[in-house]
Amino acid sequence: MFIVRLFLFKSLVALILVNGTVVGLEWTEYHNLDEIYEWLSDMEAKFSPLVTVYTIGYSYENRPIKAIKVSSRPGNQAIFIESNIHAIEWISSAASTCFLNNLLHSNDKNLEDLLLRYDWFLVPVMNPDGFAYSHEINRWWRKNRKPTGFSNETGPCYGTDLNRNFNYEWKKSDFPLNDPCDHWYHGSAPNTEPEILALQNFINQFEDSYIRLYLAIHAYGNFVLLPYGHTIEIFPPNYDQMMRIAQGFADAAVIKYNTTFKCGASGLLNHSGYVSGDAKDWIYGVKNVPFAATIELRDNGGYGFLLPADQIAEVCTELTDGMVGLIKAAEMERLLTPNI
Ligand SMILES: *[C@@H]1O[C@H](CO)[C@@H](O)[C@H](O)[C@H]1NC(C)=O
Ligand SMILES: *[C@@H]1O[C@H](CO)[C@@H](O)[C@H](O)[C@H]1NC(C)=O
Ligand SMILES: *[C@@H]1O[C@H](CO)[C@@H](O)[C@H](O)[C@H]1NC(C)=O
Ligand SMILES: [Zn+2]
Repeated sequence: MFIVRLFLFKSLVALILVNGTVVGLEWTEYHNLDEIYEWLSDMEAKFSPLVTVYTIGYSYENRPIKAIKVSSRPGNQAIFIESNIHAIEWISSAASTCFLNNLLHSNDKNLEDLLLRYDWFLVPVMNPDGFAYSHEINRWWRKNRKPTGFSNETGPCYGTDLNRNFNYEWKKSDFPLNDPCDHWYHGSAPNTEPEILALQNFINQFEDSYIRLYLAIHAYGNFVLLPYGHTIEIFPPNYDQMMRIAQGFADAAVIKYNTTFKCGASGLLNHSGYVSGDAKDWIYGVKNVPFAATIELRDNGGYGFLLPADQIAEVCTELTDGMVGLIKAAEMERLLTPNI
């Protein structure tokens, strides 16, 4: 069965490659939203029916929010990845798309197994308005672009930090996020922003226990951050198990370039600090997905948010190796059941 499916997948790919021109992103520079979305369409055209692209909703400024799904077998459990919810963190979508590209094209046995045994979802740009704004107007933009309704002496203030707006223990952490003109503004209430509502609606349509792993890709600091974000007084019921799985990522990701990822609840790790209303806590706390993490990619602050494009390939390798390690650990913990 396994061989047959693999052969089917590869021969479909081969068939299409013969006909099609090779198109796609180059992971040697950062791409804008249109280029990333064009790549999604290319992958759908190339790998259909195994790959499907969805518009899961629209941003405040009416840009589509797109998701790509890869599924080569019925009955797979799902792994969900999202990136660039923070506009400024360009490496997050560069690395997540590169990882998915590896998954689709690699002949590495580990990646072939991952491709066949699980369904994969990626929302490469969760915050398309902010991302476009960061490309066109202000490289340092983080939030979405919906007016907050507040202004200061410089004029109206735009944007909510989407990764502080989810409806789980919203506003519980001490971090001062209440200023509508601040980069970390959590919104006037939980779940006010169209981008995260689109994500939640998309996820809510799936059966319980279909999605087993959720990874929010961010930068920077080299961390695997676990729930809960708002407290270190209480830990999740399976925190120790999540730590072992996160360590599976770190142990694999360090090998090639000696990049050390620290793992733990957000509040335990100094650079990251407390956070409330983020995606990982919502997916864990509300949707009961048994493993949820925020992965902070390179670097440690040398370049910070302005990580040079010539590091994309190495970061992609770290993420890819890390994912292989993470999933092996999750299988050992029986949190994931491969569909063999
Ligand atoms: C006013 O808000 C803008 C963001 O809209 C911010 O950059 C600026 O620092 C704020 N000014 C003050 C005095 O807080
Ligand atoms: C790897 O990184 C650690 C710190 O994270 C450092 O102590 C060690 O010297 C590095 N090893 C090499 C071979 O660079
Ligand atoms: C964070 O900083 C505190 C105080 O500076 C220190 O005691 C603690 O060990 C640090 N934690 C980590 C994970 O580095
Ligand atoms: Zn971030």
